[in-house]
Amino acid sequence: MLKVEHLRAFYGKAQALEDISFEVNQGEIICILGNNGAGKSTTLMSISGVMKQKEGVIHFKGSDIGKKQPHEIVALGISQVPEGRRIFPTLTVEENLKMGGFLKKRIDKEKIGEIYELFPRLKERKNQLGGSLSGGEQQMLAIGRALISEPQLLMLDEPSLGLAPQIIDMIFDSIISLRKRGMTILLIEQNAELALEVSDRAYVIELGRTVLTADSETLRKDRSIQSIYMGQQHLLHG
Ligand SMILES: Nc1ncnc2c1ncn2[C@@H]1O[C@H](COP(=O)(O)OP(=O)(O)O)[C@@H](O)[C@H]1O
Ligand SMILES: [Mg+2]
Repeated sequence: MLKVEHLRAFYGKAQALEDISFEVNQGEIICILGNNGAGKSTTLMSISGVMKQKEGVIHFKGSDIGKKQPHEIVALGISQVPEGRRIFPTLTVEENLKMGGFLKKRIDKEKIGEIYELFPRLKERKNQLGGSLSGGEQQMLAIGRALISEPQLLMLDEPSLGLAPQIIDMIFDSIISLRKRGMTILLIEQNAELALEVSDRAYVIELGRTVLTADSETLRKDRSIQSIYMGQQHLLHG
């Protein structure tokens, strides 16, 4: 579904991505792991079209999307949930959800209903302002907003960041139930333990390069690989 080959990206003269390659097949949950600053967010922003200074191959369902604008990429079927959620604090929950459908003429009531089914907490708070939600609820809202455009590929940038363990479990349960409904997901995480639990395959990136790929199951069992590539701190969790 998605093929990224030898992706390089730059912030001015500084090269953030040196050589990133990976593939996502339909129906998979793929995770990209890597320490802070490795280039995970830059990779996602390159795919979603936010990052312009880039070279290499980005193909989605066989067509080259490397030069396309963010709204065109959403229209083609890729939605991104950005790091730090970035919901609209002065809009209500329901208004935030509707913003996710800005490309559509009409937003399906049913679609909003589906999102409330996935996240009942959002339904309870549909008239509350986005800014008044807890971190976990804002993450649910950011995911819900990305789903309104009915993506075929959903990209999540560190959904667990800054959330309490119980809330993280709720978010990851929703990722699993999205997968059961047939969604293809590209998940970016610093929390390797957690990401490997829900994903099929994993790629590890280090200093802007893909350095390792494996089945998530294999990687989960191989503690030595984890300690080399993902830092000892991950061994203490889970
Ligand atoms: N807006 C920016 N301007 C300049 N450099 C940046 C910017 N954003 C990220 N970088 C740099 O690009 C590299 C990759 O960052 P990023 O993709 O955010 O990593 P990650 O998401 O894995 O933590 C880092 O060296 C970071 O300092
Ligand atoms: Mg990041």
